[in-house]
Amino acid sequence: MSLIIPTLALLAVSSFTADPCAAATAEAVSASRPLQGNDTMVSAQGRFVVGLFSPAGSSGRFYLGIWYGNIPVQTVIWVGNRASPLSTVASAQLRVSAADGNLELVGLASSSSSTPAVVWSSNVSSLSTGSNTAVIRDTGNLVLLDGGNSSNVLWQSFDHPTDTQVPEGWLGENKLTGEYQTLTSWRNAQDPAPGMFCDRVDPNGSSEFFLLWNQSRAYWRSGVWTGRVFARLPEATNNVLFNQTYVETPAYRRVTHVLYNNATITRLVIDLTGQIKQYIWVPASQSWQFFWAAPTVQCDVYALCGSFGVCDQRSQPPCRCPPGFAPASERNWALSDWSGGCRRSSAFTCARNGSTTDGFLALNDVNLPDDSLAVGAAQSESECESACLKNCTCQGYTFSASGCAVWHGELRNLEQLYADSGISGSVMYLRLSESGLRDLRGVDRKKRGRTLWLVLGITMAGVAALGTSLFLGWRFLLARRSTSNNEGSSLSVYSYTELRTATKNFSVRLGGGGFGSVYRGVLKRKHKGERTGIQVAVKKMEGLRQGDKQFRTEVSTLGLIHHVNLVRLLGFCSAGDDKMLVYEYMPNGSLDGYLFGGDSNSCPSWRDRYNIMLGIARGLVYLHDGCRECIIHCDIKPENILLDEGMSPRIADFGMAKLVGRDFSRALTTMRGTIGYLAPEWISGLPISTKADVYSYGMVLFELISGRRNTEGYHGHGNGSSEVDAAGLSTFFPLWAAGKVMEGEVSPMADPRLRGDVPEEELDRACKVACWCIQDQVADRPTMAQVVQVLEGIVHVHAPPMPRGLQHLITLM
Ligand SMILES: *[C@@H]1O[C@H](CO)[C@@H](O)[C@H](O)[C@H]1NC(C)=O
Ligand SMILES: *[C@@H]1O[C@H](CO)[C@@H](O)[C@H](O)[C@H]1NC(C)=O
Ligand SMILES: *[C@@H]1O[C@H](CO)[C@@H](O)[C@H](O)[C@H]1NC(C)=O
Ligand SMILES: *[C@@H]1O[C@H](CO)[C@@H](O)[C@H](O)[C@H]1NC(C)=O
Ligand SMILES: *[C@@H]1O[C@H](CO)[C@@H](O)[C@H](O)[C@H]1NC(C)=O
Ligand SMILES: *[C@@H]1O[C@H](CO)[C@@H](O)[C@H](O)[C@H]1NC(C)=O
Ligand SMILES: *[C@@H]1O[C@H](CO)[C@@H](O)[C@H](O)[C@H]1NC(C)=O
Ligand SMILES: *[C@@H]1O[C@H](CO)[C@@H](O)[C@H](O)[C@H]1NC(C)=O
Ligand SMILES: *[C@@H]1O[C@H](CO)[C@@H](O)[C@H](O)[C@H]1NC(C)=O
Repeated sequence: MSLIIPTLALLAVSSFTADPCAAATAEAVSASRPLQGNDTMVSAQGRFVVGLFSPAGSSGRFYLGIWYGNIPVQTVIWVGNRASPLSTVASAQLRVSAADGNLELVGLASSSSSTPAVVWSSNVSSLSTGSNTAVIRDTGNLVLLDGGNSSNVLWQSFDHPTDTQVPEGWLGENKLTGEYQTLTSWRNAQDPAPGMFCDRVDPNGSSEFFLLWNQSRAYWRSGVWTGRVFARLPEATNNVLFNQTYVETPAYRRVTHVLYNNATITRLVIDLTGQIKQYIWVPASQSWQFFWAAPTVQCDVYALCGSFGVCDQRSQPPCRCPPGFAPASERNWALSDWSGGCRRSSAFTCARNGSTTDGFLALNDVNLPDDSLAVGAAQSESECESACLKNCTCQGYTFSASGCAVWHGELRNLEQLYADSGISGSVMYLRLSESGLRDLRGVDRKKRGRTLWLVLGITMAGVAALGTSLFLGWRFLLARRSTSNNEGSSLSVYSYTELRTATKNFSVRLGGGGFGSVYRGVLKRKHKGERTGIQVAVKKMEGLRQGDKQFRTEVSTLGLIHHVNLVRLLGFCSAGDDKMLVYEYMPNGSLDGYLFGGDSNSCPSWRDRYNIMLGIARGLVYLHDGCRECIIHCDIKPENILLDEGMSPRIADFGMAKLVGRDFSRALTTMRGTIGYLAPEWISGLPISTKADVYSYGMVLFELISGRRNTEGYHGHGNGSSEVDAAGLSTFFPLWAAGKVMEGEVSPMADPRLRGDVPEEELDRACKVACWCIQDQVADRPTMAQVVQVLEGIVHVHAPPMPRGLQHLITLM
């Protein structure tokens, strides 16, 4: 099964000071034929080039590198002398050492030195001959070959990757030498020296890969190799462009991948942001396209913002310094190297006798850094504060129900949280000097002064309007209060025991996703004196970290949402950590079972499908526009479309984003079976809007039309087979379908099980609208209200353009 995520977030590739001077090119390097100065060595088919380069802005630092030879944007995949640059190309030489047969780079390390020295060497011990040769292969592997027997590889760059893995290169461990093949980030955009982040295989021997901060602290893990994929990587990353395999032999264990089509240009790189990112070169746009990244949330990278830096997912760049602090290095900060963190603008005064004038600044709604020390003796907030003040190395404290905790040394991994995203953080008190606090207060006072004048001005100008607005405001408040009173009481509150009994101790599981499992149950009700049972579906929430009050608030908003195409919330249970939602039970299961489950004779008719398309669209219009607050569903897929007694569709699981909060996008993008429906902005990090639902809806439309999963192999022959083609690559249905829509030929797209019993005009509308929905650009997609109008035949659409992301993938395959 293969998936394609078309994503179009453009990578800003820094341009290098590529040398326009027509320097000599060579096919091989040997003792007698070194590469001099600007000379380069090019692989047989011209795919890769070896030579000296200088990163843009690095002013006069030169490195031995390998970059692509067949694309115009110089993109370096390997650097030899990462940490020891040359100061000039003039005297530089890449040669095979006559003395020991190693490949070495010789030149001036700094402008003050006058004798060339070896700044980099392949450094293989006990080589016998000086007649070895070095060549660059078309895979990007620089190899040193034995002069006596050229099938003997003495050294190769694939054994020593920098920050990039290319197809056929590997990451892992050489079990004989104990050497690891690790990706390590550049320090900043101008400096290839090893940075803070690396990607390496588990040193304990499992097949899992870790992303590590400072070689030690893991902040992301790939999961172990299952034989087909890494457990925690979305399946989409595999088997679309290349065949990835993890292999263990007595000599090594490593992951490598082989392209299905070796014309594809793709690379995996560990970025300055600590994320690993997959990029594809798109010839049509002559640019690198971002394909996929992990971790998806930037602030999940440990200590991204260095010591005392605060990571804020909602700002770009994500790092800032707290008040009273400034970047330790403004220059590095500007180069997206935040690892140096922040420094106090004025040091705190610390008197040995314990008296100090330092004070504290409250940081609200942050997650607390690790390495805190509990102070058991401090029983109140003021005792906690003074415990911190008494110790000269104490940087801050927090006080909560679980007691007093203080921090010594540097604070790492501070993150700004947002209560409105469902997870509220803690308050942390950061120690500042008296003068530091005074400066802050000064800033505050100035601000307040200005606000006061502003307020006065507005009051004078608006004095006439005041009476009217007060009156209106009062009327409005009254009106609101009464409506919310009427609507608010519709949800029932259940106890844990009641729901446990109703679900027979959670014995019949109906399904589940990333946010909890759903169980079938029967609630006993007294109705007109008779005891009746009503069937319900009970969703047991998992991983909810919010408190009782907030849960009730969120749930009561969901309780107000009633629409014939939405599953109705009947009640809830909030008993400590056990949070459950009680929904009406839908007897006919979910759309995936209905559409993909049955045998070929009893497939849903076109009429039923068209009604389902319209129903889902209407339910989404209500969520997007009809509710008091716009609700983005975020997870539209056949599993979340249920069918009621009359086979009308009912959308389930809406409102989860708000309920689950900060962990939602993480759960969503790693959830099995979801990724194929996710709009590109989920992966590229652009803001999520209702148009993300439109995209997912488009993907579901294609499945309703074809009667099969988009991700299944498809040949369009209408024979119902789902083989993969010769390259082992199955065709992504929407890709093929978008091409057909553009050709104006929609009939082959209909589910062959319908045997042509499909009104041509409805099929045409459905296909066109589906293709509009999956446009890459958010603005190009219609609103759900427009979708309904098109499906109802009120509005006509012209043929959509090819979704660019899909189109680019066609050119690649
Ligand atoms: C390398 O190229 C630069 C720029 O074209 C040129 O000025 C310089 O002389 C060249 N150096 C050598 C050693 O060829
Ligand atoms: C070569 O390896 C030795 C140890 O094996 C190390 O001390 C030396 O620094 C290395 N030299 C270079 C140029 O990498
Ligand atoms: C790409 O594949 C073709 C055909 O299989 C082969 O001839 C060519 O050498 C390959 N190129 C590379 C760089 O592997
Ligand atoms: C060259 O080396 C390869 C692999 O190390 C070996 O199989 C082959 O027999 C060698 N050839 C000669 C002529 O020694
Ligand atoms: C490796 O094993 C050791 C000892 O069992 C353990 O302490 C350590 O956490 C393990 N490391 C990883 C990365 O799993
Ligand atoms: C990284 O780790 C090394 C040794 O483990 C330590 O000396 C160094 O201080 C650490 N760097 C930071 C920024 O903490
Ligand atoms: C502590 O020392 C400072 C000067 O170092 C002095 O001004 C202050 O009075 C002393 N306080 C106490 C309580 O001794
Ligand atoms: C300050 O706290 C650190 C860490 O708990 C401790 O090692 C040190 O002795 C304390 N210093 C004083 C003066 O209490
Ligand atoms: C992927 O590579 C493995 C190992 O080389 C091979 O066994 C498998 O058949 C390949 N799969 C595909 C779909 O090409």
